[in-house]
Amino acid sequence: MRIGFVGTGTITEAMVTGIVGSGLDVTEILVSPRNQEIAARLSSRFPSVRIAKDNQDVVDSADVLFLAVRPQIAEEVIPALAFRAGQTVVSVIAATDRSKLLAWIREDVRLSQAIPLPFVADRQGVTAIYPPHSEIAAIFAALGSAVECETKEEYDLLAAASALMGSYFGILDRATGWLVEKGMSREKARAYLAPLFASLAQTAVSADGTPLEVLRREFSTPGGLNEQVFDDFDRGGGTRALTDALERVLSRVQG
Ligand SMILES: NC(=O)c1ccc[n+]([C@@H]2O[C@H](COP(=O)([O-])OP(=O)(O)OC[C@H]3O[C@@H](n4cnc5c(N)ncnc54)[C@H](OP(=O)(O)O)[C@@H]3O)[C@@H](O)[C@H]2O)c1
Repeated sequence: MRIGFVGTGTITEAMVTGIVGSGLDVTEILVSPRNQEIAARLSSRFPSVRIAKDNQDVVDSADVLFLAVRPQIAEEVIPALAFRAGQTVVSVIAATDRSKLLAWIREDVRLSQAIPLPFVADRQGVTAIYPPHSEIAAIFAALGSAVECETKEEYDLLAAASALMGSYFGILDRATGWLVEKGMSREKARAYLAPLFASLAQTAVSADGTPLEVLRREFSTPGGLNEQVFDDFDRGGGTRALTDALERVLSRVQG
């Protein structure tokens, strides 16, 4: 399999790094010459990476083609390319829906959309894919895990949910800040809270048969401190703020 990338930026670098370290049967990875520095870094790090002559060279050489340019320039870049009928194309371009992409591509390609996250570099990223596509799902499964969406609605919901990353760090930061205000050093506060959050996230992943509601109760003694904090959060409008934020971001994702 030859994999190509049009747009060699942050997310391409993460995907290429993950693919090279995975067990996927990839003979060659083609990257477009922009960004020059990232393309050069990838080709010097990994013998299977070749810098293509231009974007069209990537399209012509790839069995599986990833479109990874920024949304603002997609309309300039994609219509200028000639695709092959039946070619497998995956767009990771945010906020650019399927009908727009197909109109720019013009050819009858097998188009998927995906939302890779930077963790794919370490093969620990979960990637939402739409529509289901076994070959593309297998690539992303090798970079962590893949969730295939049956409908655009499901895909949009996961796109909205992926916007929770900043809030994860935001809550960690606010809680750390509170400990600092109380007189603790920032280093010590973080050294405690970051592994605590990591262990909780790991529990949610590994105990995937246990409802989250049950986990919440398991980690909250009745009448205890954990129960008190969540009740205060809920009563103080935390759940409402979270739900409102997700609704607002979903509207934005849906355009
Ligand atoms: N970063 C993420 O975590 C992430 C996650 C999921 C999806 N995405 C999506 O992936 C896409 C790329 O994001 P990114 O974060 O990787 O952005 P990025 O770092 O800016 O990468 C985009 C790359 O496209 C290159 N480029 C500009 N003009 C081009 C052209 N005409 N032909 C080919 N390449 C060109 C840019 O090169 P120059 O530097 O030379 O301008 C840049 O390196 C976006 O649509 C984004 O929504 C990103």
